[in-house]
Amino acid sequence: MRIVLMGPPGAGKGTQAKRVAEMFNMVHLSSGDILRAERGSGSELGRRLKTYMDAGELVPDATVVEIMAKAVAALPADKGLLLDGFPRTVAQGQALDAQLKQLNCPLQAVLVIDVEDAPLIKRITGRRSCPDCGRIYHTEYLRPAVENRCDACKASLTQRADDTEKVVRDRLATYRRQTQPVIAYYKDSGQRVIEIDGSAEPDEVTARVKQALQG
Ligand code: AP5
Repeated sequence: MRIVLMGPPGAGKGTQAKRVAEMFNMVHLSSGDILRAERGSGSELGRRLKTYMDAGELVPDATVVEIMAKAVAALPADKGLLLDGFPRTVAQGQALDAQLKQLNCPLQAVLVIDVEDAPLIKRITGRRSCPDCGRIYHTEYLRPAVENRCDACKASLTQRADDTEKVVRDRLATYRRQTQPVIAYYKDSGQRVIEIDGSAEPDEVTARVKQALQG
């Protein structure tokens, strides 16, 4: 199965993507994770990415499309694909469609997880992640067994630089302005778009996603 997972910052894309990719034998490609890895590498490109990401702005289309096209081209043939955070503009959507058409493996669905703004801010400012394995926690909603330690690899949890309330508000505005039109783009082009209410607790959202994809 090849799907795109969309939704505002904090909707639970990363949380659900890890679970769903495992369930359906898909490779999970998160543009945010890939860009953060480049930023953390200390490269010249990484330094340029930091300026956009720390301000809650989108990285320019040409840069993201080039990075994601390489990741998509390197996928193993026996696995499905779950794209998380990409595409985020109509231009990115068009570039992805063109690449998948060339590879003869078009998208099968676009899954949109939606949640109102107020809970999103609380989710994001309370998010903690494992720097080693990428597991995602929350100080209230998804706590690790031992405070501030990853359940899986015991590393100390960290907070993302763009997870402050001010930057989250900017990221939400960016989402409404630049990324929501991508949903209309997919609907207009006849793509199967599945909208899921992501306001329930994580296990319930997983069950909704699973049911929608099996349907
Ligand atoms: P990215 O990393 O993609 O961030 P985002 O879209 O803002 O999404 P988040 O990762 O913040 O949220 P999420 O939906 O994955 O939520 P999560 O599951 O972690 O992008 C970061 C930046 O990179 C962008 O701002 C941009 O600069 C750049 N970028 C990335 N892609 C780009 C692109 N294509 N083009 C241009 N620039 C790009 O959950 C959040 C928290 O809530 C967690 O603590 C979790 O435990 C908790 N939680 C999850 N689900 C629930 C639930 N159901 N109930 C309660 N709590 C929950």
